[in-house]
Amino acid sequence: MDSIVVQGGIALQGKIKIAGAKNAALTLMPATLLSEEPLTLTNAPRLSDIQTMTALLQSLGVEVTSMQDGKVQVLSSHAMTSTTADYEIVRKMRASNLVLGPLLARHHQAVVSLPGGCAIGARPMDIHVTALEAMGAEIELKDGYLHATAKGGLKGARVPLRFASVGATENVLMAATLAKGTTIIENAAREPEIVDLAHCLRRMGAQIDGEGTSTITIEGVGRLGAATHPVVTDRIELGTYMLAPVFAGGEVECIGGRLDLVQSFAEKLDAAGVAVTETPDGLKVARKNGRPHAVNVTTEVFPGFPTDLQAQMMAMLCTAEGTSVLEEKIFENRFMHAPELIRMGADIEVQGGTATVHGVERLKGAPVMATDLRASVSLILAGLAAEGETIVSRVYHLDRGYEQVEEKLRAVGAKIERVAGS
Ligand code: UD1
Repeated sequence: MDSIVVQGGIALQGKIKIAGAKNAALTLMPATLLSEEPLTLTNAPRLSDIQTMTALLQSLGVEVTSMQDGKVQVLSSHAMTSTTADYEIVRKMRASNLVLGPLLARHHQAVVSLPGGCAIGARPMDIHVTALEAMGAEIELKDGYLHATAKGGLKGARVPLRFASVGATENVLMAATLAKGTTIIENAAREPEIVDLAHCLRRMGAQIDGEGTSTITIEGVGRLGAATHPVVTDRIELGTYMLAPVFAGGEVECIGGRLDLVQSFAEKLDAAGVAVTETPDGLKVARKNGRPHAVNVTTEVFPGFPTDLQAQMMAMLCTAEGTSVLEEKIFENRFMHAPELIRMGADIEVQGGTATVHGVERLKGAPVMATDLRASVSLILAGLAAEGETIVSRVYHLDRGYEQVEEKLRAVGAKIERVAGS
């Protein structure tokens, strides 16, 4: 398995182009299942999770044509051959469950394995199931698979979610576009990726109102057509690279960055003594003076602080002045990066969903191990600030969510390389 080797202590200077959002692409791709006509996605990120979704869609008979080095994906569901999402693919990535809503909506049936993905908690699917049942689906769990049918098609309904789940909102939103009548999703998730999905579905002919708020209303239509849609900027990749000059010093401009995508995160950076400035092309970030200050962070659903930036923020706070408290409210078991950061000299105590970080002056390079996608990038960031060499092993998680991480960081002056493993 590959490792990434980082030499710390080098200030960064320059520009990093932010890619299209992984989490948006992973819900936009299955949206193709709703229509016989092609869906063209531009600004697609080049990631192994996208390849996994491609393999899953292909296993259902979807034609996927990748162009411009993967930045453009043309998907066509005119000749579907299956409505079963097999465990062998689904186990690699939880977002595979996003085929459930569209398959039920257009084919009135789906068999979807319960998902895998990052080992960051139980991540069940009860919210998806309850919501689709409210729309008339019958769903049974047999041998690890959800067997779902909607005889005569899904029906519009009032669908209150017990928690504003991102995936459940996406599944119901897609399903409702072809349901008979009106669906009202209450307590809907408001993440930018959901707004992006709604924009794409509207381009395909769907009637949707209220995306980006807690109540989304969808008027079902008879069919959806072709569309071309640019994937929204990846706010998690953006936040990650915004932190790079905070660790290492210097100044980095994140091209394509938008403040509205990372407002709560940028507010914490400001409180920590980091300057974030809007430029015509994106966002520029630099420390105001010296070491950042401690700040307290609680992860929340959007527009709150994103759980997917918690590991990176914790790594940054390891060398802040003072004590920070981080509370993880979205996932249980999402502090697996803490023991690795401690190996690098960090002073962190974890108790349940709370981590207390006592800032130290410097981290020291060490061999560490990536445990999930965001944890792996947090260790690379920590390596940028650490004295000496940090070797991050098991980086396959990284390739699921960050395209060309070494190239992007090298372009702003970091000393980082990938070492092929046996
Ligand atoms: C999505 C993102 C992921 C991000 C997460 C929270 C994608 C592909 N992934 O994941 O990167 O970290 O949102 O912002 O977009 N839950 C239930 N029952 C359900 C569904 C969820 O209990 O039926 C729980 C989960 O266990 C978790 C919490 O709700 O504790 C959040 O999950 P959810 O918002 O559904 O996240 P995902 O859509 O899986």
